[in-house]
Amino acid sequence: MKIAVLYGGTSGEREVSLSTGKGIIKALENKGHDVTAIDFSPEKLVEILELDVDLVFIGLHGKFGEDGKIQGLLDMLGIPYVGSGVLASALAMDKAKSKQIFSLNGLYTAQSEVYDVADSRQVDRVEEEIKKSFDLPFVIKPNQEGSTLGLTIVKEKEEIRQGIEKAAKSDSMILVEDYVQGKEVTVPVMGYKGKEQALPVIEIIPKNDYYDFDSKYKPGGSEHIVPAKVDVQLTAQLQQDAVLAHQLLGCDVYSRVDFIINEKQEPMILEVNTLPGMTPTSLFPDSAQEIGLSYDDLIQKFVELSHK
Ligand code: DAL
Ligand code: MG
Repeated sequence: MKIAVLYGGTSGEREVSLSTGKGIIKALENKGHDVTAIDFSPEKLVEILELDVDLVFIGLHGKFGEDGKIQGLLDMLGIPYVGSGVLASALAMDKAKSKQIFSLNGLYTAQSEVYDVADSRQVDRVEEEIKKSFDLPFVIKPNQEGSTLGLTIVKEKEEIRQGIEKAAKSDSMILVEDYVQGKEVTVPVMGYKGKEQALPVIEIIPKNDYYDFDSKYKPGGSEHIVPAKVDVQLTAQLQQDAVLAHQLLGCDVYSRVDFIINEKQEPMILEVNTLPGMTPTSLFPDSAQEIGLSYDDLIQKFVELSHK
């Protein structure tokens, strides 16, 4: 099959995407596809159109890759692609909107509030509101971002200002969320729309305090335990919740749903990643390995699920 792989891009997660893309390109080549690799920017759209490919594999992460925008452009050009469409991608990228959908449908998610800090004159007011509304510790993060970029775990009130400013570098909407103490796990989901299945649950043990950028991408930065050390009942609950979250947003082909299990053993959903990392240190491939799917087989499976 003639496939274009879009990778790199312009988001804060560019480096991660370069690594994801390299993995995808190699896997597709190993499976005998005719692959064109494109370090993506909008002017490359003409090139994609001229290539007359059968399929585009989006190996991008974050803004202009994972947020529905490139998906919309490809829809307009009539070019099929792997993964979720415009609406699901945009919803999953917007943490506040997706959390609303999750809690309206009975999934647990930490208490949160979203603030607009586009106008820097609003920062004083927002800082005061956060002080009044949240008990320490809590998390400040960009509403739309990935790989924990721009995230602060606020442990002292004096850190609020810096947390707002750091998150605002990635997005003018910031999300403030109760900090959930507990075990961090993630659940890959894949399959035809409406018939998705959850893969084994992965438990993440970061070397740093939490699963930050270095823990995610430095070799040895975290330990992945597959299957996670949680009992059968909670495993089933996590897998059921992950598939429900995927379906509530209308995701397609694959996604990875991140959770923290709180002290009451409740799975608190953090977010759905519609284009989860496929780097050498990423989570999805480790879970697939557990059910006997190699990295190359997994990528090939995504292609088959997309070629309807
Ligand atoms: N946002 C990164 C790539 C992930 O979720 O794996
Ligand atoms: Mg993410």
